[in-house]
Amino acid sequence: MAAFNDLVFSGVQPTGNLHLGNYLGAVKRFVEMQARDAQCLYCVVDMHAITLWQDPAELKTQIREVTAAFLAAGIDPKRSIVFNQSQVPAHAELAWIFNCVARLGWLNRMTQFKDKAGKDRENASIGLYAYPVLMAADILAYRATHVPVGEDQKQHLELTRDIAQKFNNDFSGSIAAHGHGDAFFPVTEPLIGGPAARVMSLRDGTKKMSKSDPSDNSRINLTDDADAIANKVRKAKTDPEPLPSEVAGLAGRPEADNLVGIFAALKDTTREAVLADYGGGQFSAFKGALVELAVEILAPLGAEMKRLVAEPEHIDAVLFDGAERADAIAAPTLDAVKDIVGFVRRPRLRSV
Ligand code: AMP
Ligand code: TRP
Repeated sequence: MAAFNDLVFSGVQPTGNLHLGNYLGAVKRFVEMQARDAQCLYCVVDMHAITLWQDPAELKTQIREVTAAFLAAGIDPKRSIVFNQSQVPAHAELAWIFNCVARLGWLNRMTQFKDKAGKDRENASIGLYAYPVLMAADILAYRATHVPVGEDQKQHLELTRDIAQKFNNDFSGSIAAHGHGDAFFPVTEPLIGGPAARVMSLRDGTKKMSKSDPSDNSRINLTDDADAIANKVRKAKTDPEPLPSEVAGLAGRPEADNLVGIFAALKDTTREAVLADYGGGQFSAFKGALVELAVEILAPLGAEMKRLVAEPEHIDAVLFDGAERADAIAAPTLDAVKDIVGFVRRPRLRSV
């Protein structure tokens, strides 16, 4: 078996309204991965964003805003590689090759496409349909071994594994002939977990907290100030029962389960530990504590994001430096892939 070094990759779309779900399910965990001994790449996936219409001027602002959120949350752009996808050509090039590896039947099963395309499927962009293939290319251009994401990305990561395995199988002879052993791409591990892998809407505990929910009260935006955070938590939907003292008692109570999960994730603890402190009590007291905790963590993060966004030259310099370092890893991988596939290509500058 070929050996792969640990390499972490993840992406966030610059589609506005970054929220608590993005932070707890993804960005906060990116920061934790950085503390381990692996190379981490964190990508603002602007090419994914345009699978749905984006206003060009807003897209630019939102790319900078996601970058600012990464930095404000504690991602160190010297230690990790922070960049936007469209600056590194390997993503689009590898996606094309993977379009020829992935099967229509696989993509037809993707639930996110069905959700986002809605009823008028004929009018959806081809990019929206091919979205998961580009995601596989993002990850595998770096031969990433670990991908921290929220629960909603599970199916896409399974597809990434299928594409890696089919490529390794289809080209096994050529992979060996080019000196890469019996596998060129790793079978990537998804890292999905913790108490906030799926943060739900504050207005409806059965719906995911989402950037596109028309109600701003359904989510806590990372740029919300202390008053807005407090208001939204106080208005969050609950049920009339007191909090249970055991996790089993959260079953069938999606709003209570969500608020307890959010509290646990913000505090780096478990639902069990939160219920040990607040079980048996009324929601009002628990919500007061949640407001305090959320404001303590999110208000400085939002303020730092605003400060960074006001210096777009600094953000752009971070993205440019990150893109150069990402390209230095991805370009040789692409050269190797072109050799494996049988393309005639320009001489290799660096080798994998
Ligand atoms: P997106 O904004 O769709 O690019 O998502 C960026 C990251 O945030 C991905 O890893 C998602 O899985 C994660 N994410 C988005 N919404 C939620 C949510 N409600 N709860 C937990 N994670 C989420
Ligand atoms: N599809 C992911 C989302 O919407 C974003 C994404 C694109 C991604 N490419 C990726 C996440 C590669 C992890 C790895 O959340």
